[in-house]
Amino acid sequence: MAKAFYITTPIYYVNDRPHIGHAYTTIAADVFNRFHTIAGRDTFFLTGTDEHGTKIAESAEKARVPEIEFCDKMVEEYKTAWQALSIEYNDFIRTTSSRHEKAVVKFLDVMRNAKTADGQDVIYSDYYEGLYCNGCEKFLTERDLVDGKCPDHNRVPEKVKEKNYFFRLSAFLPLIKEKIESGELRILPDERCREVLGLINQDLPDFSLSRERVKWGIPLSFDTSQVAYVWVDALSNYISAIGYGDNEAMFDKWWNQAEVVHLMAKDILKFHCLYWPAMLMAAGVKVPDTMFVHGFFTVDGQKMSKTLGNQIDPNEMVAEFGPDGTRYLLLTQYPFGTDGDVQAKRFIVQYNSDLANDLGNLVSRVVKMIGANCNNEIPEPFAEIPGLTELKQQAEALADTSYNHIKKFELLQAISKAIELVRVTNKFFNDQAPWIMAKEGKTKELGGVLYACCEIIRIVSIVLFPIMPNKMREIRSVLGLDDSSLTLENARTFSFLKPGTKVALKDAIFPRLKPKKQVDTKETSSAKSSNDGLLDISEFAKAQLKVAKVLQAEQVEGADKLLKLQIDLGTEKRQIVAGVARFYSPEQITGMSIIVVTNLKPAVIRGVESNGMLLAAKKGKNLRLVVPDGDMPPGAKIS
Ligand code: MSP
Repeated sequence: MAKAFYITTPIYYVNDRPHIGHAYTTIAADVFNRFHTIAGRDTFFLTGTDEHGTKIAESAEKARVPEIEFCDKMVEEYKTAWQALSIEYNDFIRTTSSRHEKAVVKFLDVMRNAKTADGQDVIYSDYYEGLYCNGCEKFLTERDLVDGKCPDHNRVPEKVKEKNYFFRLSAFLPLIKEKIESGELRILPDERCREVLGLINQDLPDFSLSRERVKWGIPLSFDTSQVAYVWVDALSNYISAIGYGDNEAMFDKWWNQAEVVHLMAKDILKFHCLYWPAMLMAAGVKVPDTMFVHGFFTVDGQKMSKTLGNQIDPNEMVAEFGPDGTRYLLLTQYPFGTDGDVQAKRFIVQYNSDLANDLGNLVSRVVKMIGANCNNEIPEPFAEIPGLTELKQQAEALADTSYNHIKKFELLQAISKAIELVRVTNKFFNDQAPWIMAKEGKTKELGGVLYACCEIIRIVSIVLFPIMPNKMREIRSVLGLDDSSLTLENARTFSFLKPGTKVALKDAIFPRLKPKKQVDTKETSSAKSSNDGLLDISEFAKAQLKVAKVLQAEQVEGADKLLKLQIDLGTEKRQIVAGVARFYSPEQITGMSIIVVTNLKPAVIRGVESNGMLLAAKKGKNLRLVVPDGDMPPGAKIS
């Protein structure tokens, strides 16, 4: 039996409203947690709020309410947002709760009495003089300033001298290095681990773990004129919530015996990867197993910030895409771990392509066929269908392939594998053309195709459950399934569904969304270039051309000239509409490598979105696709 699994998110500052940056980490944690749960592990997922410190006291003062009232109100905003996103945490820790405050006092007392290996006090008192930025809640060095001001808060820091208690970080840095090198403390991805090792080599100074000037905080038991430094207070949430100093059995289960994973973005790496393990070691507590430090994202190429007013409220996204659509879209923008850009402009197109067209369409076409030909009952399986053995193998492998990615925190890859299977299954359905089987009275074959599709839908509903729990439950109920069979183990077997089970689908699982702006493709903005109609090289260079592979093709309903193509651009999949149906059949074009203009505004052609344009040569009544000469992988740039 695998170890119990304990995962945390950072606890968020309550002076900021929840935005999709906070949502990103929280959704990711929820997905990891749900995945390990369906894999049979005992799991615990913690999130919460960071409520002490000057910034929060200032915000409360601005709002003219007592600090705690301000916090209570903001905490509700976080809880409401998380509920709207179907986040299923086991506990929500607040740093103003008495259980947390007690644990922090205890933790500090233990450290106060601790000695380093060479017999020095871990905590010592000293005077600190420095430049303090109230916005950052930290002392800044001259090097951090731009024009004498804190660059993040655009204010001149205060010169401050105060008595503080210091934590002897220097004594622990070599020990942390050892733990990282031995693998006892894993910092992922590797790039972040190297960053942490780099910080260790810089011999960071000791840090002060108390503040005299801050009033809104937890007073130290050994000097009530001081409150705990916000980061000491905040980091302790990871142990206060699971019974540190209070409930030994619980603490032992979720800290000592479990695999402990902290998730965060790179902005708070130093605190998590150095301060926190050092304090734990000083207090004689085991260090966490893994710190996963993901990247920071921009939205449509811009940094998200309060000042720019471009922070996206998760509630707005939920109103547009539902909780499941929002979760899916946020997690599939770029690989988890790296920095990336969230392309909010493409949300609708991607939703319609991956969820409405691929997944939703698979469910509805299979159920419709069963309705029309099998009395709404899952038919008998039948193995002798070309391509079925390979498809079955791919489906049976999905659970392990995706779970292995999850174990490595590769969220995007885990999800893509499931969507890939959906696409392959849609192609299988098209190739088998069950509607022709029905016409020709090939009942066994027809049943075999539909049974296989149902099984794949069932398997996908398990693997994508952690990402889209509500929609996957809906899909499962179409197949007459409830949560009792929602385990990863059941996704490893192909023949689970009982023939004869009733299927029923009332409404589309992912109703198509209407793009906000309809762009008329006929009106190409004629390049208003120089008077002779010649393009400047920089104008031509604006067009981004890439090699794409056609994964799937079908005729656009009611438009005999148009084909709807699903294409692979190496790093992403897209849908385009092309007027080539008179020259290429869907079968001919599927599998071809073509050239696509990739940076066009999305367009809607006969009600179908198109995200790019393919290149073709035309003369008279003849049209031929422009293709790369020889082998060129999808995504290769045309220059
Ligand atoms: N209160 C501290 C954390 C204490 S944990 C012991 C804090 N809070 S925060 O509200 O500023 O949250 C920071 C975290 O929010 C990041 O580490 C990350 O998890 C998430 N993100 C905020 N904006 C984000 C992006 N633009 N991109 C990715 N993650 C983002 O720091």
